[in-house]
Amino acid sequence: MRFVHFLMNIIIYTLFDTFLLVFEAAGTSSFIAQYQSLSYGKSIVSSPRGTYELCFFNLGNPNKIYLGIRYKNIPTQNVVWVANGGNPINDSSTILELNSSGNLVLTHNNMVVWSTSYRKAAQNPVAELLDSGNLVIREKNEAKPEEEEYLWQSFDYPSNTMLAGMKVGWDLKRNFSIRLVAWKSFDDPTPGDLSWGVTLHPYPEFYMMKGTKKYHRLGPWNGLRFSGRPEMAGSDPIYHFDFVSNKEEVYYTWTLKQTNLLSKLVLNQTTQERPRYVWSETEKSWMFYTTMPEDYCDHYGVCGANSYCSTSAYPMCECLKGFKPKSPEKWNSMGWTEGCVLKHPLSCMNDGFFLVEGLKVPDTKHTFVDESIDLEQCKTKCLNDCSCMAYTNSNISGAGSGCVMWFGDLIDIKLYPVPEKGQDLYIRLPSSELESSRDKKDSKIIIIATSIGATLGVILAIYFVYRRNIAEMSNAENNHEEPLPQHGHNRWNIADKSKTKENIKRQLKDLDVPLFDLLTITTATNNFSSNNKIGQGGFGPVYKGKLVDGRDIAVKRLSSGSGQGIVEFITEVKLIAKLQHRNLVKLLGCSFPKQEKLLLYEYMVNGSLDSFIFDQQKGKLLDWPQRFHIIFGIARGLLYLHEDSRLRIIHRDLKASNVLLDEKLNPKISDFGMARAFGGDQTEGNTNRVVGTYGYMAPEYAVDGVFSIKSDVFSFGILLLEIICGNKNRSLCHGNQTLNLVGYAWTLWKEQNTSQLIDSNIKDSCVIPEVLRCIHVSLLCVQQYPEDRPTMTSVIQMLGSEMELVEPKEPGFFPRRISDERNLSSNLNQTISNDEITITTLKGR
Ligand SMILES: *[C@@H]1O[C@H](CO)[C@@H](O)[C@H](O)[C@H]1NC(C)=O
Ligand SMILES: *[C@@H]1O[C@H](CO)[C@@H](O)[C@H](O)[C@H]1NC(C)=O
Ligand SMILES: *[C@@H]1O[C@H](CO)[C@@H](O)[C@H](O)[C@H]1NC(C)=O
Repeated sequence: MRFVHFLMNIIIYTLFDTFLLVFEAAGTSSFIAQYQSLSYGKSIVSSPRGTYELCFFNLGNPNKIYLGIRYKNIPTQNVVWVANGGNPINDSSTILELNSSGNLVLTHNNMVVWSTSYRKAAQNPVAELLDSGNLVIREKNEAKPEEEEYLWQSFDYPSNTMLAGMKVGWDLKRNFSIRLVAWKSFDDPTPGDLSWGVTLHPYPEFYMMKGTKKYHRLGPWNGLRFSGRPEMAGSDPIYHFDFVSNKEEVYYTWTLKQTNLLSKLVLNQTTQERPRYVWSETEKSWMFYTTMPEDYCDHYGVCGANSYCSTSAYPMCECLKGFKPKSPEKWNSMGWTEGCVLKHPLSCMNDGFFLVEGLKVPDTKHTFVDESIDLEQCKTKCLNDCSCMAYTNSNISGAGSGCVMWFGDLIDIKLYPVPEKGQDLYIRLPSSELESSRDKKDSKIIIIATSIGATLGVILAIYFVYRRNIAEMSNAENNHEEPLPQHGHNRWNIADKSKTKENIKRQLKDLDVPLFDLLTITTATNNFSSNNKIGQGGFGPVYKGKLVDGRDIAVKRLSSGSGQGIVEFITEVKLIAKLQHRNLVKLLGCSFPKQEKLLLYEYMVNGSLDSFIFDQQKGKLLDWPQRFHIIFGIARGLLYLHEDSRLRIIHRDLKASNVLLDEKLNPKISDFGMARAFGGDQTEGNTNRVVGTYGYMAPEYAVDGVFSIKSDVFSFGILLLEIICGNKNRSLCHGNQTLNLVGYAWTLWKEQNTSQLIDSNIKDSCVIPEVLRCIHVSLLCVQQYPEDRPTMTSVIQMLGSEMELVEPKEPGFFPRRISDERNLSSNLNQTISNDEITITTLKGR
């Protein structure tokens, strides 16, 4: 009997081994069947696309081995799930098998390190790795089971990563929370104390928790988006977002619009953030998309109870109307956490409500939701309950529906600078407070009133400029025969108002900078006095100013006659507001009085780079080390635009006059009026409207309207040459009459005589090999074909190292005589400012 058993075992094991051999020879199985196993060094690969693999790996320490899922073809930051995160294995004698009851069991030295468990009984189970990155156990015979039929899935037990299609939330049927838990550090998947998931309040909410303390909340789902995530309401180029709340489950999920993209959301203990990344195949790296918390006001309860936080206000915390700081002394020294209390007690039945717009609504811990009643009934209900402190619609889609009421203190309110980004909240106040609304001494009301006034002004101004601009653009592009609409207040009627309101809303949606009123700006700039004028940009004059608080500012005044329309203007504002890098000029605010458009920037003491390098005298002030520092700074700023900011941004008008220098001669790129932003890994665009500056424009862009990060690289190459040579590309360099600077540089390159290019002002201070290296790099940047040009990442590597460089191919726009250029450009519609020419070509297609 024993012997038979032994024999049977041998047979089984032999069969099993043969099977395993077949299984391994095929190499790409995505299954583990019953009695099969996975050992160290082997993997199963998701099918059919092979995106993920389940295998054993270490994270740098060979004595800490983990079983997990990772991207198969991505070399870095590729782990998306770990089975034994807090329980690593110390050598390779480990095995994962699907045991007879259909559970995955990970053992080491006969000890169970990790295993799955589920309630259903399995008939013929198999474990399969899906192309979504989900490891599931299911019945083998079911060809393609629905999610509910999985016996077990790794998506229910996430590590620190959320993938497309994963649900984070609560499974109410199994009474089971699905949440992300951060790793202790990048190389230690032991669960850290930071986690992210949903809390089942009457109005459910997502919290990021530090241990048991709330650290950040997204705000409840309001039918369109999370209350604290205004960006989600628009149509995101990459993601579909969804939130589901019913009797069986409450969860958030997202999917990708393009199925070939890879994206992940990672909870990071080190940075205490939850960034979202998209994989870029061309750059072979994870591109940062968005993150949470986004700003200071996103940190839970920073302003204490009954107050609101606004990043564009100073100070950031303010008591709600009708409330005063609990301890005024602490409050005034920024000790906000004690929050605010009512100035006058509520009287219950005689109270009223005060509307505040543009909010991330308060923490929903003490709430009540009734989806069947409307706002008016909600008001009555709240009024009748003496402990109800605030109410609003629970769903804001359409005209709004449902009712949510808050009890007790109102905590963690954020105010958005643009009301459209936030929600309405009706806050209970004693009627005495509401009557004093007309009392001008109440500073809070003045603030609200002026901000509403300013917003209305903006909307009006934008409406007129926007309409005119749209009309002009369509007229120019399509040869429209229709008469232009008339402008003026007589045209402003209710019908128009509602029709364009959506447009304006859309335009203003992401405007995230402080709005200044005209008076502040005219005071600061001495009423735009000519003494304050410091420059003339492509689209209008620039003035120096001083704000009342002492800050120096530069005001860019885009007159209505300028070429920059409202579309470009809003593009610029939206873009720059999001950009933060030491080599980019910082936008402090904007203003739209009447038909004017004003941008407020930090003031750059040393003006623009062109005033130095193209000036024989001032050029002496910039020696080679300083120029090299400037070159590097510009390269870093451009790299940030191309690679590191949340969007991929193509500047399209990089030139010496758009590089400003601060008091320490640090360069800062400015003028984003023509910039274009892309999500994901799109790197190229096409336009019918070629804008840019002659002499800096890449050939494919000037001729075909195709722009890409590589056309910016071209402009950078030109700028690099100019910084070294001290001459403009378009003007003559060292007396050569027929060639532009690039052509001249190329001729010298072929003669191996590029040192001729070096500006006499830097001859004494320069390190020749370094300058020659820069010239070499610039010639690589200005090569005719975009695919030959390096990316900014490699430009920085080349500039900063001594690695061997490839030979440049012939540059674009060479050789072309100056007179030919003049002919060419005279066909184009030009706006001339100083001696720079900015071309706007409208190409008929
Ligand atoms: C590995 O861990 C086991 C316990 O799982 C322990 O008995 C053994 O000594 C460890 N080996 C080493 C080299 O640390
Ligand atoms: C299979 O593994 C699970 C989890 O470790 C365990 O509960 C179960 O008893 C195992 N089944 C058998 C037949 O060993
Ligand atoms: C957290 O962020 C830091 C800094 O960006 C990064 O180095 C690290 O790899 C991240 N950790 C994880 C677990 O992704």
